[in-house]
This record gives sequence, structure tokens and C-alpha cells, in this order.
Amino acid sequence: METSKRANVNYGTDKIFEAAEDFLPLLGTDYVELIVGNAKQSALYYKTALGFQSLAYAGLETGVKDRTSYVLQQDKIRLVLTTPMVEDSWMNQHLAKHGDGVKVIALWVEDATKAWEETTQRGAKSFMKPTREEDPNGYVVRSGIHTYGETVHIFVERSNYNGVFLPGFKKWETYYNPEPVGLKFIDHMVGNVNWGEMNTWVDFYAKVMGFAQIVTFDDKDISTEYTALMSKVMSNGNGRIKFPINEPAEGRKKSQIEEYIEFYKGAGVQHIAVATDDIVDTVTQMRDRGLEFLYVPETYYDNLKERVGEIDEDIDVLKQHGILVDRDDEGYLLQLFTKPVVDRPTMFFEIIQRKGAWSFGKGNFQALFEAIEREQEVRGTL
Ligand code: FE2
Repeated sequence: METSKRANVNYGTDKIFEAAEDFLPLLGTDYVELIVGNAKQSALYYKTALGFQSLAYAGLETGVKDRTSYVLQQDKIRLVLTTPMVEDSWMNQHLAKHGDGVKVIALWVEDATKAWEETTQRGAKSFMKPTREEDPNGYVVRSGIHTYGETVHIFVERSNYNGVFLPGFKKWETYYNPEPVGLKFIDHMVGNVNWGEMNTWVDFYAKVMGFAQIVTFDDKDISTEYTALMSKVMSNGNGRIKFPINEPAEGRKKSQIEEYIEFYKGAGVQHIAVATDDIVDTVTQMRDRGLEFLYVPETYYDNLKERVGEIDEDIDVLKQHGILVDRDDEGYLLQLFTKPVVDRPTMFFEIIQRKGAWSFGKGNFQALFEAIEREQEVRGTL
């Protein structure tokens, strides 16, 4: 990997990059695709509650007969919502088993053929051989590999394409266009895997994709009086792609990771963390527009100043919105978690604003877990 790229990234722990081998240079997250039961209605939810903008569409009107996809965008984040249209689509089984959830974490690369060759040579199971797709706007090459559960990574090479999204999609123009809420890019995406499988997937990202573990002080078992989990964070060489991997750990009661696995029927994406430059404004808008967040008791704020030191924000304002704060060696971060955005207690979003900190909010896990446990109690799944 080029050292010049690494020099700009500061995780407070430069040594992770020594281990990372960049045979798989990733430019960023290209898109995230969810298989959903009703893409038309989901698209309205993501526009209204999360501020996404209409971007592209594929379906009957574009000659696609077996599925319908809506593509939404907010700054650098692209979401694809896809619903099967025919009885024999593989997506029906996916939906019956998992409910709505993330199928594809697509990664933007310069060379999708090489990305596929490098990863499959290192043991990745192929999902899609390098495939060239074209239309009058140019061509795209995509390839794909399997990761945890039924989730896949698709490598997207788009330097020779200037269409709105991918060949086969047309621009989606709508009358209803609510304002964005300030979501900028995907900070990290977390996978929940089964008992004893965390290290299998940590090794997968290390060996197959050349990622390295970010050692932060999040890297210990996390537990409350009742429930526990283990978590490790994997990052690619330039730090643009970060995948924490969780597995359940033994506790007195059932952890949120077990609950997820029970309802998702296996490993899958637990949350998508999206960055904002103004968390108070973003969260205020999202709440006004119908999104529900995890409730944190007011006592969380009683000794906040002692825990995190001086911060720019007014603690009363944070308290009013239930926004959490954590500090590491490099700075601090503000974060807040939505309740699950689907009916099963599976996928949710994290809203995060980093002010120097590169960790993931370990100091908040206790408060968060207790908040989730209260929700589990209500669901009867604790
Ligand atoms: Fe997170």
C-alpha cells in the first residue's frame, strides 16, 4: 500500500496500517442494497424520515421485470431498495428468512476484475464473476464475493460510466423531495455473527480483504449486569471502510446480538453508522420527521462532564435530544442510535459526529445496552 495515503489517516494507532496489505484498494462505499418487502413504501420512509433524495429507478418502466429498485442518495451515501416482482425470485426466500435487511455492501474500486481475483484467490467464495454492464452512458464492471451470513460485497468499477447510477437504471424524478437531514457518508457498518464466529470473520477480513484490526479501547468484552457481547473492528488500509464485527457473549440474560441472530435467522448487518457535521440538527430533524431513537435516562448526563471533559456542545441540549458523548486519546464523538427501522428487532442506524475521536463509543455501551435491554424486556426477548 502507498505510505502517502496512510500518512493522512490518524487512528491514534499507526501500527494497524503496518499489517494492512493493500492488494485490495477501496475508494469508498459505493452503495448499500436492502432487500425489502415493498420498495416503493420503504423509499418514502427513507426520504421522509432520513432525508434521502430520489436518484434512480429500475423496474417495469425500464424493462426490468423480476424486481423493482429505488436508489436514494444523501451526500456520499447511496441506498438501493429492492423488491422481488416474481414468484421464483431468490429474494422471496431472503425476505421470508430475514425480513427486510442489507444484502449488499458495495465497495467502489478502480478494478473490479482484480478485486475479485485477489479475494477469491485468498479464499473468498464468489457471488458474481466480473461482469461488464453497459448502456449509452458507458460501462461498469461489477464482481462480488460472499461475506458473513447471506450478505455479499460487490466491487464496483465505474470510471468509464457517467450515467445516474448503473446501467439499467433511469433517473428517478419526483415531486415529493424533502430536505436532506445532513447525513454525509457511512462511517462504519457493523456485522453481527453467531457464537464463536467473530474471529473467523476477523480473519476473513484480514486474509481475504487485507484489512487490519483497529485496536482501540473498545476492544474488550462489553457487558452489563445481564448481557454481553464481544466486538472487534476491521479497517481497510486507507481507513475509509470500517467493519466492526460483534458476536454474543455469555451473560445472565439474552444479549441483543442473540436477539438479532434469532430474528434475522443468522449473521447480518446490525447497524449502519452515518456521519453528520451537526448531530443536534440532524437528530432534531429526524425525530420531527418520525424516526424513533433509543431512550437514554437523564441520569446519563449527571456526571458527563467528569467523564468526557470539556466539549463544545451544551450538555442540556444533548440531554434534551438524548445524544451520547464519548472520548478517546484523539478527541471525542457524539452519537445516537435509532430503534430498529424494521419490524423485527434487527437493523438500525447510528448517527455519529466525530470531533477527533476514532473509536466507536465504548464508554456509552453500558448506557446503551441498558437502554436496549429495556426494549428487549418490552419485546419479551431478554
Ligand atoms: Fe457503531
